[in-house]
Amino acid sequence: TDLPFAHHSHKGPKPLRKILVTSALPYANGPINIGHLVEYIQTDIWVRFQKLRGNRCIYLCADDTHGTAIMISAKKQGVTEEEFIAGTHEEHQRDFAGFDIEFDNYGSTNSDENRKLCGEIWTKIRAAGLVKEKEIEQLYDPEAGTFLADRFVQGTCPYCKTPGQNGDHCENPSCLKTFEPSELIDPKSTLSGATPELRKSLHLFIELEQLHEFLNEWTKSGPLQDEVANYLNGHFLHEPLRDWDISRPGPYFGFEIPDSPGNYWYVWFDAPIGYIASTQQWCDRNGEKLDDWWKSDDVEIHHFIGKDITYFHTLFWPAMLKSAGLSLPKKVRIHGFLTVGGRKMSKRDGTFVKASTCSKHLDPSAVRYYYAAKLGARLDDIDLNLQEFVDKVNSDLVGKVVNLASRSAKFVQQVGLSAEYPDDGGLFEQAAQAGDVIAQAYEDCDYAKAMRLILELADRANPFVEENAPWVLRKDESKQRQLQDVCTVALNLFRQIVIYLAPVLP
Ligand code: 2FM
Ligand code: ZN
Repeated sequence: TDLPFAHHSHKGPKPLRKILVTSALPYANGPINIGHLVEYIQTDIWVRFQKLRGNRCIYLCADDTHGTAIMISAKKQGVTEEEFIAGTHEEHQRDFAGFDIEFDNYGSTNSDENRKLCGEIWTKIRAAGLVKEKEIEQLYDPEAGTFLADRFVQGTCPYCKTPGQNGDHCENPSCLKTFEPSELIDPKSTLSGATPELRKSLHLFIELEQLHEFLNEWTKSGPLQDEVANYLNGHFLHEPLRDWDISRPGPYFGFEIPDSPGNYWYVWFDAPIGYIASTQQWCDRNGEKLDDWWKSDDVEIHHFIGKDITYFHTLFWPAMLKSAGLSLPKKVRIHGFLTVGGRKMSKRDGTFVKASTCSKHLDPSAVRYYYAAKLGARLDDIDLNLQEFVDKVNSDLVGKVVNLASRSAKFVQQVGLSAEYPDDGGLFEQAAQAGDVIAQAYEDCDYAKAMRLILELADRANPFVEENAPWVLRKDESKQRQLQDVCTVALNLFRQIVIYLAPVLP
């Protein structure tokens, strides 16, 4: 009998799809946690599904290594930035492997490939006339010798006078005003404690407004979930797009801009180019050409990201790709956050559980299955409820799926399998026919639906075993043929189910 999931058609083989998939590049300044895992597991399932279908699919990722946060972390540990990111690079890969997340290449944005690509894309953006220079005023820490991003300034709210407010907004619930960090009363740098001063410096900006019409059309042409397209329309695209500040004056851990010495690309400029740089490394190892993946109409590019970085991937990034003459993503697939017990993950609640801690206690399959069962195609947050987690894994995976095999496999060792597939009242045929709907649910990232459909098959298969009670048949010498048939059916139904589950439970 055919494998239920194989791509086949009597009209001849379907042309295979060529698919390039990415997850967001995790920051190199901290460990992977159970919140991150939602995205990497979601993506890994999708990639494994595509590969199982026989499509050509590559899964690329990298560490996001530049910017101020990493400079500070390295300094704290008394190591160079390069040493610091080398450490996290190892750690992250170990963490992902612990959950069966399998990349075709895992790179770093601090690579030669990325530096070169940033330069090439920058040249194109310049040539398109999109770059302009502006002097801006910003808070500067004279002791640390660096400009301060908003989040590194603390002071008293200029409105309600509550002390200890961060950056550009007040967190006092009865105030909640936003302001410029320079308006804070008695501002202090959180890097050194020094009082920051206002200083002017030159920044380079990309004039996004020039691409407004293109972005308007592109965002509405199908790459985004409806709720995302509507959000962009209501929040950004209804008015002129603001210039995007893409440079930072040194000292900054990143790439210096070749035609603007002393200035560095802002981390969010070089980070998504890291997707391409990671592809380059994969190409070099596999004798492939980069243009065949990033400049070809035959390739589908799918980015998986969390909802917090929507506008980088749906406005800036497409604008960069368009200007550089590269392919646009076919889909940007956006998911919600993980909550734990209905609440935002928090250090204080101890719910920022590291992937490495989780790995010490759990089989990755349990987490992968639970996340899959909770993940739909929309942006809703998903909640990790520990009791539900235990119950679901026990009842679905152990009680329904594994049980199907464990109750029949042992007898097969005695009596073997039937020479021909016996009459099963249509169960196998029914399960085979479910393949298309299950595949569509995987394709749409509606894994919750896929899991429901698959478990329904187990719910139909188990009563067959119960009614035919192989453990009773085995005691009757004259019923050995029947025993063989029942076990043959049960194991084949099990086989179908585990193939359907294979993307989730490799
Ligand atoms: O939000 C983040 O964690 C970023 N490091 C994601 C970067 S994704 C891509 F654009 F590089
Ligand atoms: Zn206030």
